[in-house]
Amino acid sequence: MANKRAKPCAGNDWKIRLFDYLSAPTIILSPDRIIVDVNASFLENFLTDKSHVVGRTCHDFFFGSPQPCPTEICGLAKVLADRRGHSALKSTAAPGDIETWDNHVFSPVLDEAGEVTHVVTSIHDVTPIKQLERRLAGARDFTEKLIQSSTTAIFAADMKGRILTMNPAAEELVGYTLEEAQKKITAEDLYPAGRAKEVMKILRDERMGGKGKLHLTRFTLINAAGEEIPVDLTGAIIYEGDTEVATVGLFNDLREKLQQEQRDREMAALNARMEKMASLGQLAAGVAHEINNPLTGILFYATLLLESLAEDDPRRKSLTQIYEDARRCGRIIKNLLAYSRQEPPRKEILNLNAVLEKSLALIRDREFYVDLRVIRELSGEMILIEADGDQLGQVFVNLVLNGVDAMEQKGTLTLRTYPDKSGRNACIEISDTGCGIAQENLTRLFDPFFTTKAPGKGTGLGLSTAYGIVRENGGNLWVKETGEHGTTFVVELPLYKN
Ligand SMILES: Nc1ncnc2c1ncn2[C@@H]1O[C@H](COP(=O)(O)OP(=O)(O)OP(=O)(O)O)[C@@H](O)[C@H]1O
Ligand SMILES: [Mg+2]
Repeated sequence: MANKRAKPCAGNDWKIRLFDYLSAPTIILSPDRIIVDVNASFLENFLTDKSHVVGRTCHDFFFGSPQPCPTEICGLAKVLADRRGHSALKSTAAPGDIETWDNHVFSPVLDEAGEVTHVVTSIHDVTPIKQLERRLAGARDFTEKLIQSSTTAIFAADMKGRILTMNPAAEELVGYTLEEAQKKITAEDLYPAGRAKEVMKILRDERMGGKGKLHLTRFTLINAAGEEIPVDLTGAIIYEGDTEVATVGLFNDLREKLQQEQRDREMAALNARMEKMASLGQLAAGVAHEINNPLTGILFYATLLLESLAEDDPRRKSLTQIYEDARRCGRIIKNLLAYSRQEPPRKEILNLNAVLEKSLALIRDREFYVDLRVIRELSGEMILIEADGDQLGQVFVNLVLNGVDAMEQKGTLTLRTYPDKSGRNACIEISDTGCGIAQENLTRLFDPFFTTKAPGKGTGLGLSTAYGIVRENGGNLWVKETGEHGTTFVVELPLYKN
């Protein structure tokens, strides 16, 4: 469409004043790049007067060049080509100077035939805007780096649950890369079934930490392998005006913290148990020692008396009972002394399988082996440990005898030895197919004198003695599993390192 406006330089007075009052430095160019006119603001900015400017080409005035600028960077050339307005951003930075930015706006002046008669070029100083842009970009860049380097896992999803972004900590936590997560899951899949809705409900509830906010909450996250990971969760809804546009979740993996807490609890329980065992040990040692002497006397005189009585003497029955009971006391005292033995282990380098075999040999001849099957799944390679062989033998004998008792002498006993995954310890597993251990007894199992056996059958010192010995030898002892199909105890001992 033809432009009806008059030529700017038509000599019309008010238009010249308007041109002069334009606050942006402005020049009028002819299509052959001659500067036809400049306004007052231009002269002020360039500290020049009209006689130095008007009549010169723009490339000569601005760049001191006899040649026009290449068409791809020349705004005037673009205006001439399509008769539309164009702009070009130019930066000037003299060495050591602050960089300044000008936006050159080229507007065509068309005649009635629609041909370009002049091009008005105004120069706008956009340095403050550019500086602000740079500062904002810098701040954005910093925020982005902060998110990317954060050890807190950060997820953002749109309101349909589609993952918008995840930082590397989030990728590590869930086991998906951002691309995989965007293809395979929605935010809902990160929570156990039904819990995502619960999170959204809390987020929208004004009473729960303010609308759109979820304060630190213990939660469970589901990773790519389907594992449940305990996490601390903080969340927010992002609004644009009143419209919800996205959700952000910040997750901190609590596994290590919880494991540490568990270890601390176990350590505290262990210390308490060791203290209890030590004091009971002292008591037991004292009592055993005091009783041992008179008991030896009782046994000695009972034997003498028995020998002096005729075979059919009616007192023989009572005397035999005295003798048997005294022997039983003797066995209890032997156990007590074993339990209370405070001797530090005499450590030597041992072949674990050989120690286990030797312990089995000690009890091989017992009558209970008749209905018992013993399976050995011993490590093919030699496992060397550094421990007190006699003490360990006692541990294995106690565990095997417990298994035999639990099976009432009928069943399968399986013995396994293997180096553990860490490469630091050797493991010995002793499994039976016995009655199992009742849940309520598990916490008391290693307590001295805890027994479920009939009086005279057990003193309840086997496991506490075994436990004390294993700990003294730098290892650990625990129940791996127990149930109606039987029980497995594990002894862990440090491998010998030369
Ligand atoms: N393999 C097992 N299967 C089932 N219960 C077991 C097993 N090992 C131990 N127990 C339970 O733990 C209790 C304590 O065992 P511990 O060896 O300390 O004492 P005890 O066998 O009763 O007596 P002691 O070993 O002093 O003769 C047992 O009475 C039994 O109830
Ligand atoms: Mg026992």
